[in-house]
Amino acid sequence: MLKIVILVVVVMGFDVKKTIQLKSNHPLHDVVERINEKGGPYIGVVMAYPTEELALLSSGFFLPSSGLPSLQLSGRTFNIGKIKGVDVIYVMTGEQTLNAGITVQILLDVFDIKGIVHYGIAGSANDSLSLGDVSIPKYVAFTGSWNWKEFHSEKGDLPELKFGAYNFPEKGDNLLAKIEFTSQQLYSNGQPMEEVFWLPIEPKWFSLASQLQDMKLVQCVNETYCLRNTTSCLWIESFSSDIFLDNAY
Ligand SMILES: *[C@@H]1O[C@H](CO)[C@@H](O)[C@H](O)[C@H]1NC(C)=O
Ligand SMILES: *[C@@H]1O[C@H](CO)[C@@H](O)[C@H](O)[C@H]1NC(C)=O
Ligand SMILES: *[C@@H]1O[C@H](CO)[C@@H](O)[C@H](O)[C@H]1NC(C)=O
Repeated sequence: MLKIVILVVVVMGFDVKKTIQLKSNHPLHDVVERINEKGGPYIGVVMAYPTEELALLSSGFFLPSSGLPSLQLSGRTFNIGKIKGVDVIYVMTGEQTLNAGITVQILLDVFDIKGIVHYGIAGSANDSLSLGDVSIPKYVAFTGSWNWKEFHSEKGDLPELKFGAYNFPEKGDNLLAKIEFTSQQLYSNGQPMEEVFWLPIEPKWFSLASQLQDMKLVQCVNETYCLRNTTSCLWIESFSSDIFLDNAY
């Protein structure tokens, strides 16, 4: 099966950002204070895989800060510098949503961040996408949490699937083929916990990203290694999950 890989760019912005500094007796307290005073507010750039960091580094766009180019916190390396004159802190989150969440929370709590850009490779795309396309989601959802339902059951229906009822497989419909995605609990300052499925991307930043629409994307890695199809930027809904099928359907 054809494996399709696309790029996903998620942008999130925050209107008001107040940093919670490290504890006053933390060995890096003064260093962090200097980083927040000298530069910023920063744009946080997060990625999960080494190849994604390599893409940034080999582009030559990221210029590390001459004073303090990086800082280690909880095992993550926060890289401080500029991209085209804009103050940026980039960090590798590592894989899985838990690692992503923890790293982003440290980034927000410790540094003066005005928004976060996430980019990277993506799998499990459908036929409307080509290898090398850049997709910019308007909404994202986490689809790794679900209830496995009985075949043909409706949303919210009980009972959930009982494995014991399918001990003797027979030819016919796939009776295991029904799942219901569950919503996530969203916590924000000054608001009660909210159950959400779709998380909207910050509209101002999303509309900024739409300026990429006519950007001509590079088709070749080198003289001989090129994509067969022309690629483009697309605006779609996007999903993230800790489990997924990485093939075309
Ligand atoms: C190129 O586009 C065609 C037609 O849309 C599609 O069938 C094919 O899978 C694409 N190839 C790649 C490598 O994405
Ligand atoms: C072009 O890039 C491909 C993929 O990275 C690599 O396998 C190939 O050796 C490169 N060719 C040249 C001429 O550099
Ligand atoms: C494939 O993606 C396109 C673009 O996002 C969407 O319009 C279409 O509904 C998707 N197809 C399926 C089968 O999900």
